[in-house]
Amino acid sequence: MIVLKTASELATLDQANRLVHGALHRVAAAVKPGVSTWDLDALAEEYIRSGGGRPAFKGYRGYPATLCTSVNEVIVHGIPSKALHLRAGDVLSIDCGAVLDGFVGDAAVTVSVGVVAPEADALLRVTRECLEHAIEVMRPGRRLTDVGHSVQSHAEAHGYSVVRDFCGHGIGRAMHEEPSVPNYGQPGRGPELRPGLVLAIEPMINLGKAGVVIDPDGWTARTEDGKLSAHFEHSVAVTEDGPWVLGVDGR
Ligand code: MF3
Ligand code: CO
Repeated sequence: MIVLKTASELATLDQANRLVHGALHRVAAAVKPGVSTWDLDALAEEYIRSGGGRPAFKGYRGYPATLCTSVNEVIVHGIPSKALHLRAGDVLSIDCGAVLDGFVGDAAVTVSVGVVAPEADALLRVTRECLEHAIEVMRPGRRLTDVGHSVQSHAEAHGYSVVRDFCGHGIGRAMHEEPSVPNYGQPGRGPELRPGLVLAIEPMINLGKAGVVIDPDGWTARTEDGKLSAHFEHSVAVTEDGPWVLGVDGR
């Protein structure tokens, strides 16, 4: 069942996402060679708790941290570690969730550590554009699969591949609500997008092939071919006036 949100629920979701974006900003500002992903995680948790929220990922199906910190060929769900120190040239996906007043915010960015290779820069730019194109679809009257189709067309036009094993999702009182939002597919299918629908849209785009392998830790998802991957995520509401990027756009 797809749960549409009321105006006041959207306002709360906006605040939850504001907390997430504040944490992402704080973390991104601390990213530099030598910093451990564990230290970044501590910054995020402290930021979320001091803002009156709590980490949404910690304890979710046993996940142990506030952030997912996914370096280079790690696609998503990298677990922060004291032993993992960032190096110049790395790309780092920072995924963060927070619960505030009963609603979940969820967003992610991929950032470069120092100067990165031009092919890494291009992958980050195109993946960000994939998310922007998908956000533009979030209007009344469009259909659910238009979201994934827009991501896939843009990624593949640049010779990249779309990860199939993970999807975006509805979000609200629960982090994962219906519908699931694949980043690929034919356009014009699935439910019509209606005001009050909120989706966490999260393209995961690989420089090489789409294949995924999971580490023995049960979480860390890597590209099978060892090539780079990037990930950006926004929680976005459909409104009569168009897309509302929660925690970012003023309303
Ligand atoms: N943005 C991710 C998702 O939507 C983060 C979840 S990590 C988890 O699934 F550990 F909480 F599962
Ligand atoms: Co998500």
